[in-house]
Amino acid sequence: MSPVELPFGDVPAAQAVVNVMRELSGDKHPLFAEVRMYVFQGARTWVLYNGDFPVSLHCTKIGKRKKNVWEPVANWYAAYTLPAYRRRGHAYRLYAEMEKEAIKAGCRHVKSLAGSSAGLGLHRALQHRCWGQVPTGEVFVYSPLPGQEHLYPKGAVPPQAPQELTMTKAEINALIKQGLRYDHGK
Ligand SMILES: CC(C)(COP(=O)(O)OP(=O)(O)OC[C@H]1O[C@@H](n2cnc3c(N)ncnc32)[C@H](O)[C@@H]1OP(=O)(O)O)[C@@H](O)C(=O)NCCC(=O)NCCS
Repeated sequence: MSPVELPFGDVPAAQAVVNVMRELSGDKHPLFAEVRMYVFQGARTWVLYNGDFPVSLHCTKIGKRKKNVWEPVANWYAAYTLPAYRRRGHAYRLYAEMEKEAIKAGCRHVKSLAGSSAGLGLHRALQHRCWGQVPTGEVFVYSPLPGQEHLYPKGAVPPQAPQELTMTKAEINALIKQGLRYDHGK
């Protein structure tokens, strides 16, 4: 399986993939309803197919804005793998594909909100910096892309971070164990 990028801005193509994944998973995950808006707003979408059906999806807006030293930023909005295909490295693989493109485009950081244990586990595997929980409960992730780390030493706090220190491994592990909003159906 190789990552396939959907045509940029093609909302119906992204919606078609989401519809199939929703049906195959039987899941009502809120991100299924959000992907079309992300694509409409300029996010790029990568998909892994098993034969002709999608098994994993990734959606990120690769930013261009450079208003401060933290930008441009790759805004990672969504990741979804069909339950029967999880823990096989598919989401990791799609992330790696996006990361390559983000670096090519000159991005400095990846930014995301992790709202589930699996999502936070994926960030943990990627060794992303986590800056605490936002008021709605998701973990605020803001992490330098490879090659940019030296510009953001300890003490440099990204804009909008809920706290001034990155979470410790123990704090991240505890949250993964406890579950986040999507794990509790909120
Ligand atoms: C999050 C999600 C996309 C991960 O997809 P995936 O294809 O299973 O992920 P990968 O196999 O690439 O996982 C890579 C690593 O991430 C971590 N990880 C993935 N799922 C995890 C989980 N449930 N708990 C803890 N860590 C997890 C692991 O370190 C994993 O490596 P390992 O399997 O060798 O231990 C998938 O669980 C999913 O679709 N969940 C529902 C939607 C969702 O919650 N999206 C994220 C919203 S923030």
